[in-house]
Amino acid sequence: MPPETIVELSRELRVELGDRSYPILIGPGLLGQPDRWAPLLRGRQVLLVTDSNVAPHYLDSARAALCGKSLDVVILPAGEAQKSMANLDSLMQRLAGLGASRDACVVALGGGVIGDLSGFAAACWMRGVPFLQLPTTLLAMVDSSVGGKTAINLPQGKNLVGAFHQPLAVVADTDTLATLPDRELRSGLAEVIKYGAITDAAFLDWLDQHRDALLARDAAALTEAIERSCRHKADIVARDETERGERALLNFGHSFGHAIEAIAGYGEVLHGEAVAIGMCMAARLAARLEMASGDDAERLSSLLQAFGLPTQRPANLAPEKLLDAMRLDKKNLSGRLRLILWRGAGRAEMVDGVESADILRAIAAAGAA
Ligand SMILES: NC(=O)c1ccc[n+]([C@@H]2O[C@H](COP(=O)([O-])OP(=O)(O)OC[C@H]3O[C@@H](n4cnc5c(N)ncnc54)[C@H](O)[C@@H]3O)[C@@H](O)[C@H]2O)c1
Repeated sequence: MPPETIVELSRELRVELGDRSYPILIGPGLLGQPDRWAPLLRGRQVLLVTDSNVAPHYLDSARAALCGKSLDVVILPAGEAQKSMANLDSLMQRLAGLGASRDACVVALGGGVIGDLSGFAAACWMRGVPFLQLPTTLLAMVDSSVGGKTAINLPQGKNLVGAFHQPLAVVADTDTLATLPDRELRSGLAEVIKYGAITDAAFLDWLDQHRDALLARDAAALTEAIERSCRHKADIVARDETERGERALLNFGHSFGHAIEAIAGYGEVLHGEAVAIGMCMAARLAARLEMASGDDAERLSSLLQAFGLPTQRPANLAPEKLLDAMRLDKKNLSGRLRLILWRGAGRAEMVDGVESADILRAIAAAGAA
């Protein structure tokens, strides 16, 4: 890529959180430009965590960038099942083996699974050590690497054990998206569409207009989508770091989605796919409660389908079972379901105490694929 194109496709944003503020670097070739981010790692010991799909492509670059450090590398199998208590324990053991002190750093090279698990390990070790995100999936670049939510799953539900722990920096090398499977790219696009759905109707129009370019991985279109998504996320996180209010809007479609993932078995339905189905259910429920029109729900569903995302409930998933799983959602308070619905494109809203019967009808209306 010519140097002028690299410059044109490089972006830098900031998450403003006082003394925990940090940069988000977006651009081609960043893994090979450690001078732009490696100096942030002050300590001597580094635990680099990645997975078996990412390692063959990008581990050598990351390792080269970290030369001079006392480095231990953990390569986990790929997949959601790795966000487990057993792996948290094994990362703790590796940090102990490394003799990691309070200035040691945990580096996550991979998608949201690696980021969430290693971020939580960093949050736990000695009550919190520095942490760097090197996201390699679109989903991780636009969502999971930004904002400091870290977690592991329990058999009972997703992300039930976790902590807020902000990274030192997010370094999104967009060249890594070249090897991402198509299904994973589309899964990431579901979270991109979510930003439009919750706060930015014009972004939804832009996504509709640039659909072919995005699906063809056009570098300029992807960079713009990542930057706009990160800007939305960074702004919301800066105003509400620990989700006391507005940040919960980012969970549009997620109460349904997390329940779908848990029931289907982690990894069967991808996170973004579950969120796509969940956003359709939330939009349908909003229409049922007369908060928004049914046309809004149909438009969202058509856009998601045009991006190759699922919008219907998996065939083996009974509405009652899904509602039961939703009762474990972290947004619920005192046993009352709390959902993120919308008043139409770009206008998400938190709603308490929705009747179970209405939720069940909205789930049932999302057909069965
Ligand atoms: N912390 C947050 O705020 C937050 C937000 C959204 C989602 N999440 C979590 O993120 C996870 C989903 O993240 P994900 O979609 O990135 O999944 P993932 O980490 O499982 O990655 C998806 C797949 O792509 C592979 N992969 C990753 N990068 C690759 C590359 N460049 N080339 C080839 N293959 C590559 C991985 O090995 C994996 O098989 C879920 O656990 C979800 O709960 C967290």
